[in-house]
Amino acid sequence: MRKVTVTGSKTYDIIIEKGCMERVGELAKQVIGVGKSILITDDIVDGLYGTIVETSLRSAGFDVVKYVIPNGERSKNGYEFLKILNYMAENELTRSDAVFALGGGVVGDLAGFSAASYMRGIKLVQIPTTLLAMVDSSVGGKTAIDLPAGKNLVGAFYQPDLVLCDLTAAETLPDAVFADGCAEIIKYGMICDEEMLEKLEGSVHEQIGDIVERCVSIKRDVVNEDEHDHGLRQLLNFGHTPAHAIEQNSNYTISHGRAVAIGMAMITRACLPEAAEKLEKLIEKYDLPTETDYTTEQLVRTALSDKKRKGNTITLVVPEKYGRCELKKITIDEIAEYFRCTKKQ
Ligand SMILES: NC(=O)c1ccc[n+]([C@@H]2O[C@H](COP(=O)([O-])OP(=O)(O)OC[C@H]3O[C@@H](n4cnc5c(N)ncnc54)[C@H](O)[C@@H]3O)[C@@H](O)[C@H]2O)c1
Ligand SMILES: [Zn+2]
Repeated sequence: MRKVTVTGSKTYDIIIEKGCMERVGELAKQVIGVGKSILITDDIVDGLYGTIVETSLRSAGFDVVKYVIPNGERSKNGYEFLKILNYMAENELTRSDAVFALGGGVVGDLAGFSAASYMRGIKLVQIPTTLLAMVDSSVGGKTAIDLPAGKNLVGAFYQPDLVLCDLTAAETLPDAVFADGCAEIIKYGMICDEEMLEKLEGSVHEQIGDIVERCVSIKRDVVNEDEHDHGLRQLLNFGHTPAHAIEQNSNYTISHGRAVAIGMAMITRACLPEAAEKLEKLIEKYDLPTETDYTTEQLVRTALSDKKRKGNTITLVVPEKYGRCELKKITIDEIAEYFRCTKKQ
């Protein structure tokens, strides 16, 4: 069993192990004690793993109610959020009870924000089932829902009590969803881990335990330094400024992982052309795209309308070498320069 411990405002373990989902009841009981629980999941994940988790929780003594959302980003909204809160109230969950979030980043973000909000915060166990959720969204405590005006506009920093990464869940992922997680893994390699980039020349499936542990450890280190995203944590946004613009322009038909792949390639072509081809080859090995048909102008316009932007400058993550990135403050007039390489050179 691999274990990574996060020590920020709250200390918690991330357990990385094949089959740990079957032991969720017993593992959670040691950390939060038994009580009432709400298992939140989506319709696809419920069909695959709902029974395993529910059975394990019940046999450890948890009382379980279940709430299933339709799968996909469209469920990460205020309507589902309120329905969940009402369901928790109807089932008389109290402050000492717990939310179990079983699914990808959509379930993790929505269930996490529900746990953060209900009675100003109840216990939370994350059981990520996509590669992206294992290496990224289940760790670090960012929770959110989308508004019609934009993605992740409402949320909270709320750390879980326990994270269980059951690597067997990655085996049932559709190839495209698996690839989305690979984009985030490449991101970790590019920001600070050249060794990871070398590992990625091999197969992710064969090294999945090592890779998930390494990514989660990087995220842990960054989040421990800057839990509330004032500085260093922004490094985790490599490729994400153009990616968010691409996602938004496509009306979210281009997945986050794909958009991040394009964003990383674009910024690298603009700032570190000597490393661009190597990165493009790696991204393409995972059947991820490196180019977009949106124009620089379209992407800049969208990025500038981003409601999270502060004043006339933005902080961009730029590569200084293959396997290392730094934060760079640029003025909004300079963005076009960094977004200019929408296509391969
Ligand atoms: N909180 C954070 O720090 C953070 C970080 C990155 C991304 N996110 C958020 O995460 C979300 C994206 O997450 P995602 O890529 O996991 O998407 P997702 O949760 O929509 O999952 C993708 C698809 O895979 C299915 N699925 C999940 N697990 C499966 C399994 N084991 N086998 C088969 N199918 C499975 C789901 O039903 C869904 O259809 C976005 O909303 C993004 O904003 C949050
Ligand atoms: Zn991301």
